[in-house]
Amino acid sequence: MATLRSDPAARLAGTLRVPSDKSITHRALMLGAISDRDVTITTPLDSADTAATAHVVAACGADVDGLLSGAVTVSGRGLRGLRPHPALDCVNAGTLMRLFSGILVGQEGPQVILDGDASLRQRPMARIARPLREMGAQIFTAPGGTPPLVIMGGARLTGMHHELTVASAQVKSAILLAGLYAEGETWVTEPTPSRDHTERMLEAAGVPLLRDPGTGAVGVRGPVEGLSLPDVVVPADFSSAAFHLVAGALRADPEVVLAGVNLNPARIGLVDVMRRMGADVSVDEALPVAGEPCGDLVVRRVEALRATDVAPEEVPGMIDELPLVGLLAAFASGVTTVRGAAELRVKESDRITTVVAALRGMGVDAEELDDGFSVRGTGRLPGGAMAAAGDHRLAMLGAVAGLVSEDGVVVEGFEACEVSYPRFARDLATLGGGRA
Ligand code: S3P
Repeated sequence: MATLRSDPAARLAGTLRVPSDKSITHRALMLGAISDRDVTITTPLDSADTAATAHVVAACGADVDGLLSGAVTVSGRGLRGLRPHPALDCVNAGTLMRLFSGILVGQEGPQVILDGDASLRQRPMARIARPLREMGAQIFTAPGGTPPLVIMGGARLTGMHHELTVASAQVKSAILLAGLYAEGETWVTEPTPSRDHTERMLEAAGVPLLRDPGTGAVGVRGPVEGLSLPDVVVPADFSSAAFHLVAGALRADPEVVLAGVNLNPARIGLVDVMRRMGADVSVDEALPVAGEPCGDLVVRRVEALRATDVAPEEVPGMIDELPLVGLLAAFASGVTTVRGAAELRVKESDRITTVVAALRGMGVDAEELDDGFSVRGTGRLPGGAMAAAGDHRLAMLGAVAGLVSEDGVVVEGFEACEVSYPRFARDLATLGGGRA
């Protein structure tokens, strides 16, 4: 296991283009594989998670030529043209397992087993298996609703309306993808909107989406004949930029610029929360990339932050950034709470337990709540040791915390960052923090 020691940094400055968007790269690889044309994906994310998706689509007969570190071309096999290998390894990637299931239930052919690593094997899959089965799919989980998943192709699917009790882009996407193959209309309603990358990419590929402005429901009318995904240029990932944004709010002098970042409105809730806490963040929007709003984020250090309450309806728009709110909260005056975030318990780790344990390990006064956490800010972070718990976002949280701490932070299991941001330590060093 790799251990990182992250030392305090006096100041951070510079411009960084963080790695490309994970959600968009997964989707481009998967939709490319079922497109009627070969799709070139430029600047995809090169990481363990997206490599798993490239391997899986290749194991289903869609060649992936090129390198994730530059550009890849996926040979589109058409909507019903995949020939899946009987055993597919999703490694740590929940997005891969959930979204690809929506595609596999529409393929002809024999049984496929989707499995993953120890962390993925603990993540809930009944949330996709149940609605897909209601549509007629043959998809089964292990007892307890976890992987491995078994999918039998060739089932006749029928469209229906699904009401999600918890907002989830992965569940919504799996259902909409299955809806491409289903007879009639397939609709999804969410309590609060989650990221809509799948919807944007389907529309770009020529699939008309159904929308109910009253309820916010989104749907597709199937079965569709095919899709023609144009080439995709992947912008930088806001969730990766967020680590530098928070580091910058505490140490940037004069400023840290995060260039070419995806600014999908359902992803950037952290910016609102940071501003509410008194952070100096500006957004410089440029031309859209891949049908997604994009631009630069500029952050400058501020001397004082205020505590805030993150409300349940804000959670989907910043689901992956909530650990960073815990870190900012240590520097804010007052008690910060995050509520309505029980979903954190079923991410790559139980992120309520692991974030609170990490913050405490670094000398922060943090408490677990059933559906979130609270932090009593003191304006400082003493430092100490924390465990990444196999979770990429925890590993990076610890590295950022070290920079803004008094005595440094030791991060155990730092290699977890390979999942989404393999060069994280080098990028932090570019801005003036830590060793490369
Ligand atoms: C993702 C959606 C989010 C997020 C995950 C990636 C996606 O999960 O936490 O890291 O690419 O659709 P849910 O919206 O399903 O909770």
